[in-house]
Parts: sequence; structure tokens; C-alpha cells
Amino acid sequence: MADLSVNIAGVNLKNPVITASGSFGFGREYNEFYPIEKLGGISCKGTTLNERLGNPPPRIAETPSGILNSVGLQNPGVDHFIKEDLPWLKEQNTCIIANIAGSQISDYVQTVEKLQGTAVDMVELNISCPNVKQGGAAFGTSCENVEKITKEVRKVCQQPLVIKLTPNVTDITETALAAESAGADAVSLINTITGMRIDINTKRPILRNNIGGLSGAAVLPVAVRMVWQVANKVKIPVIGMGGITKWQDAIEMMLAGASAVQIGTANFTDPYAPIKVIEGIEKYLDDNGYKSVNDIVGKVQIW
Ligand SMILES: Cc1cc2nc3c(=O)[nH]c(=O)nc-3n(C[C@H](O)[C@H](O)[C@H](O)COP(=O)(O)O)c2cc1C
Repeated sequence: MADLSVNIAGVNLKNPVITASGSFGFGREYNEFYPIEKLGGISCKGTTLNERLGNPPPRIAETPSGILNSVGLQNPGVDHFIKEDLPWLKEQNTCIIANIAGSQISDYVQTVEKLQGTAVDMVELNISCPNVKQGGAAFGTSCENVEKITKEVRKVCQQPLVIKLTPNVTDITETALAAESAGADAVSLINTITGMRIDINTKRPILRNNIGGLSGAAVLPVAVRMVWQVANKVKIPVIGMGGITKWQDAIEMMLAGASAVQIGTANFTDPYAPIKVIEGIEKYLDDNGYKSVNDIVGKVQIW
């Protein structure tokens, strides 16, 4: 049987399949379907310095092969995460990735400071959040801001630091390079793609927030293209996500250059999706004579 283990920035994952932030809570509900220790890792719900109630509903709209969401980072806050969720997660024997969000750089820094010395194995910064100090454009859309936030958090973060990139930019390789040069240990991509839907009868946007982020199968080709572009520019590992619903999608993402993958929206339609992906990857490797999953990373043969 092929070896499924991967090493991301010094952290060993038993397999390359991680559940994506915001699709899996803190793991408890899915642990009723299967032991979450089967997963390579879990990226927890985006956590902020203080509790957030999120945006008013409706905050999910269905789209062909995907969903549009404007949940608005509802979460119980970092202190609650440390006290109530981490002790349980620690017992589950999987890689724990804390996904961090904020409105200004100091929010990120203070939140990550609180996670030092805890069971968190990796920190993933969600920089798709509006920067309130700079007019509300997402941190992740400017290289200068990506560098700044990465540098500041790097100073206080002992764990491997993953910067999660937004696809809502002209050239994602520029923000990836900015993260790398400022000290990121890995990048993950993609976060959701900004979108909008309108109810033609009420003439109102379906989401109360007017706009939201598109995810699910519809975004896979965009994500594969961006992972491929980024993996060809940076030296640090790339964690690929966006639209993976089955094992073939995960293989595609890894051939494009992802060292590990995350699965988000697919969990909503099939809670067993990540398990099926792990099993499918293993079978693909065995059928094709690969000894290790690392052997397929970046192996797309470009025309
Ligand atoms: C309902 C929902 C909530 C999300 N919340 C977060 C979050 O808190 N932090 C984050 O970095 N990404 C969040 N995401 C983005 C996902 O982690 C992922 O980047 C994106 O959905 C693309 O992957 P997918 O197509 O497999 O879902 C959220 C996505 C959805 C659908």
C-alpha cells in the first residue's frame, strides 16, 4: 500500500486530506459520522479575538454546482476555542490547524499570541477579511498588506504559519510571493470567489449581505489553475482547495502542485466526502504503482 503521509512545514500529516475552515466546525459533529482521526488534519472554523455573531440571514444561496455564503465569521472567539474545543480536539489524534481572522493586524497578532503553547499544530491566516483600518478592502488583495500581516504574526507565532490566499486578485502569484518573502511556511488557496445572486421577483440580492463567496465544485478549475501558477513560483508547500468533491479532484489538485488538499463545501452534501477522497487517493496510487503520495505532487505534464 502506498504511503499517504505528507510533511507540511515540519508537521507530519498521516494523509494529505484536511477539512477546510468553515465547513467542519471544530470537528465534533462530523466525529459522529466517522472518527476524525482518519483525517490528515482539520482546519477549524475561522477564529477571532472576540466572539462574532456573523451576518444576518439569509447567508447561504445555492448556485449551480456550488454555494454562495456570507456567514461573516460567526465563531465563539479564541478564548472559548482554547478552553472548550482544543482539549477535545487534542484527543482526536489529527493535525489541528487554527484558522485566524481579524479586522486589523493587531487582532491577528493578539489571537495568535493566545495560541502559543497550546495544542495547535499549525496556524492558518484567513486574509480575505476586510481591513477596517484601510477602507475595508481585504488584507489579502495587496502585496504590501500581505507582507505586513505575515511579518507581524510571524514574530509571535512558534507554529508553522500558513497564509490562506484570496482568489479575488489579478495575479495570485504576487500575493503568494509576498507571503513567502515575509516568512510564511506554506500558503493555502483558494478562499471563496466573490459573487452575487438576485431574486428576480423581489429584485433583492438573495444574501442579506448583498454579496458573498462562491465555493464548491463550480470553482475547481479556477482553484487548480491558481494552485498550478503559485506552485510554480514559490518554494514553500502549497495546500490546495476549492471545489474538491471527489478523489479525482484531489489528485488533479496535487498534480497541479498541491502538497496537501482541503475539502470544504463537499462536506455539506456528503459528510463522508473526505474519507472517500482518502480511500480514492490510496487506490489511485496503488493502481498506478506509486510508493508515496508525494510522488504525484506537481507532476502535471504541461503541453
Ligand atoms: C460556509 C463557509 C464558511 C467558510 N468559512 C471560512 C472561514 O471561517 N475561514 C476561512 O479561511 N475560509 C472559510 N471558508 C472558505 C473555505 O475554507 C474554502 O477556502 C472555500 O470554500 C473553497 O473550498 P471548497 O470549494 O472545498 O469549499 C468558508 C466556506 C464556506 C462555504
